[in-house]
Amino acid sequence: MSVYDDLSSEDRIIHVCVNVDCAMRGSEELRDRLRAAAEEAGSDVEVNDYICFAACEQGPNLLIEHRRAFYSDVDPSHAEAIIAHADGGAAIESIDRSSTFIARKIFNMLDAGFKPGDLSLSD
Ligand code: FES
Repeated sequence: MSVYDDLSSEDRIIHVCVNVDCAMRGSEELRDRLRAAAEEAGSDVEVNDYICFAACEQGPNLLIEHRRAFYSDVDPSHAEAIIAHADGGAAIESIDRSSTFIARKIFNMLDAGFKPGDLSLSD
């Protein structure tokens, strides 16, 4: 049992940017693949739409809120591994941008109580 098992489903959220730049690079297909992968894995991780992390040129971008993980240049083929990471597994090094300036700004906002889901397009 990991610390992530103690989180309720509403605290286990992946935010996928579906704004124009990321959408043009396939983020809506990515979101759909993530939802399918979560269902297939029996995961209760939510996959929400999000509007722009201000890292548009490197999209598709997503945030695994409860893992403090930020991924860029994400491809739908990463969906299963991303769900595994969201459920407590290892990060995916090739797309991990969690140490970048923009990611640290996002994590700082999360730590200050800002909830990206407040701006989400989906419930
Ligand atoms: S359009 Fe996706 S980060 Fe801006």
